[in-house]
Amino acid sequence: MESTPSQPRDTWGSKLTFILAAAGSAIGLGNIWAFPTNTAANGGAAFVLVYLICVIFIGAPVMLAEFTIGRSARRNPVGAFKMLAPGTSWKILGGLGVATGVIILSFYAVIAGWTVAYILKCMVGTFKPGVDTLAIFEGMSGNPLSAIGYLLVFMALSVYVVVGGVRDGIERWTKVLMPILLILLVLLGIRAVTLSGAKEGLAFYLKPDFSLINLKVVLAAAGQAFFSLSLGMGTMITYGSYIAKRDNLVSSTLWVGGLDTAIAILAGLIIFPTLFHAGLGLQEGGPGMVFVVLTSLLGEMPPAPIGGIIFGTGFFLLLGIAAITSSVSLLEVGVAYIVDEKRISRKKAGLMLGGMAFVLGIPSALGNGAVSWLTDLPGIGKDFLSFLFVVFGQYSLAIGAMLISIFVGWKWGVKAASAEVESEGNVFRFRRIWSFLVRFLCPITLAVILINMLWGVITG
Ligand code: PHE
Repeated sequence: MESTPSQPRDTWGSKLTFILAAAGSAIGLGNIWAFPTNTAANGGAAFVLVYLICVIFIGAPVMLAEFTIGRSARRNPVGAFKMLAPGTSWKILGGLGVATGVIILSFYAVIAGWTVAYILKCMVGTFKPGVDTLAIFEGMSGNPLSAIGYLLVFMALSVYVVVGGVRDGIERWTKVLMPILLILLVLLGIRAVTLSGAKEGLAFYLKPDFSLINLKVVLAAAGQAFFSLSLGMGTMITYGSYIAKRDNLVSSTLWVGGLDTAIAILAGLIIFPTLFHAGLGLQEGGPGMVFVVLTSLLGEMPPAPIGGIIFGTGFFLLLGIAAITSSVSLLEVGVAYIVDEKRISRKKAGLMLGGMAFVLGIPSALGNGAVSWLTDLPGIGKDFLSFLFVVFGQYSLAIGAMLISIFVGWKWGVKAASAEVESEGNVFRFRRIWSFLVRFLCPITLAVILINMLWGVITG
């Protein structure tokens, strides 16, 4: 997909290929790792409810906005803002996206590295009934050598996919693999909800306690929506730049958003019943919670012990692949920018940014038991990885999404954006609602939340 602004840009082979690629970016650790982790930290069902509202009213409109920018400009995010708003500072927003992508990738690859480790552990039958899955997790994440080693392995894989020309192959494979992941999730979910103690977990997950909703929960939910849908940093601008003019952007948005949300909800249905069944604490293991909980379910998969081995190996393998298609998209924003604007080769750009993300990832890798001050940052009360996740995976994406909606709503204009959606005779369903959402609801809600959060930080 190499191209320069002067050449006609490649487009996706078909609409299905595009939806798969965009869904590949969206579906990943955000659904299966971050969503349950955030739900646990923010009170359960109340968070889930706010999350769904955010996806529908803020996430989906912003996704459509990103697609229109990308397809109209046919450039990377920095170049797109330069082209649609020449001579203005809007291009800085593209730069913010490039930086955010590299930083998110730095910790994303740490967690994805754990999935690599877990493929191996499952294959050798580590997760027998009754094993201490927390101790197993801590044994891996607390060892500096393996923590950094798995990070390196995953980062190298991502760079290889971005620069090695195997991307098309991966995308073809995801057509087959993602449905299998879905089936595995459903089977694990069925086992989870039939465990003893599942009821308690389901209540925590599905019965909202409205008194728990506050600004922090709303921001976390909005941030989670952007993270999970790959919004607010130009990923969908970049992917949108390869969409053919004849494709309908509204239905693409609905497909990508719907698939992504379905997988997240399913992940929670597995995690919470199992967590309560196993008698684990909600915060147990911090960023490792999902790994600790999921593997405790493996011992319950029939027929023992083969069931656990098959389900475990299959699950972590597919999760690793889902994570690769996401990490590739995190890297792609910066790579597309450097290739388009700086005329540096794809290979050099990928190696450079991947190398940066690897170095930046080291403290996140060491902050899960290997180095104590990184595990419990003084004055912050979080590990380094969780800290980066909140600042860049949530705040930075929320700021980016707010500015993108202001850009489309007020600078470039909903008229121009709508014309883009309607190109080649496409019908723009929801046009008026969408215009209202990007002009008013998205920017105002996000501004109110962010200002309040900032105020809270300033006034302590
Ligand atoms: N959406 C991806 C996931 O859920 C992560 C991601 C965030 C990818 C932002 C690109 C941009 O795993």
